[in-house]
Amino acid sequence: MNFVVKYDRERLLGKQVGMSDFRWVADLTAQSPLINPSLLAADFGNLEREIRRVEQAGAQILHLDIMDGHFVPNLSIGVPVVEAVRRITKLPLDVHLMLSEPQKYVKPFCDAGADIITVHIEVLDDPRPLLDEIRQLGAAAGLAINPPTPIAQLTPFIRDADLILTMSVMPGFGGQSFDTVALEKIAFIRDHVASNTLISVDGGVNENTIADCAKAGANLLVAGTAVFGAADYVKQMRRLANLAR
Ligand code: DX5
Ligand code: ZN
Repeated sequence: MNFVVKYDRERLLGKQVGMSDFRWVADLTAQSPLINPSLLAADFGNLEREIRRVEQAGAQILHLDIMDGHFVPNLSIGVPVVEAVRRITKLPLDVHLMLSEPQKYVKPFCDAGADIITVHIEVLDDPRPLLDEIRQLGAAAGLAINPPTPIAQLTPFIRDADLILTMSVMPGFGGQSFDTVALEKIAFIRDHVASNTLISVDGGVNENTIADCAKAGANLLVAGTAVFGAADYVKQMRRLANLAR
């Protein structure tokens, strides 16, 4: 039961778009809470097989982590891999840019087929021009915040994004422990965004932490190790989704 992308990407590309044009984001939100498998924990030697397995397990979106070795102390994948994933699946691609200079890369990632592009508040004094640019390129725009960053830094822009991503670990690596500081932020965000905003949480989301995230108001639950580390993706996705409900 793959999610059918309900928007025409070709039509939107190159056209002035505003938040209301991202009907598919609202559709996705309406089906939430959603488990968002993070490919960082997948077997990159068998990426297509991994994607098929999470599709068959009911995934309706995929999370892709892009790292620059500068904003975070690690490197991951880049534009060619996003392009390759785009060819493999019709699922919306949620591209998380952990980059010091996201301005340089939103267009290449959008051209590669990203459906959501999320940038970090820590590297942007005023994220609005970049969020607008992302939308004009045809992708929904997300804004992410790290655990130590005060929510006040994001508050002025909280209604300017289609997705708010609360990190529950310091970004850079999968498999870390969940930081409960995220829960308070999620609850605050839930009370301050429009109902069709995706409220995402990323890092250490697993069977022990997912219910608290959902209770706090998260509707898009990124899970790397908890999905790809499981023996049976179908059972594990169902289990996580049930805990989140
Ligand atoms: C961390 C990434 C996450 C990562 C989460 O920097 O942003 O998306 O894949 O991995 P888990 O779910 O294993 O904590
Ligand atoms: Zn991520």
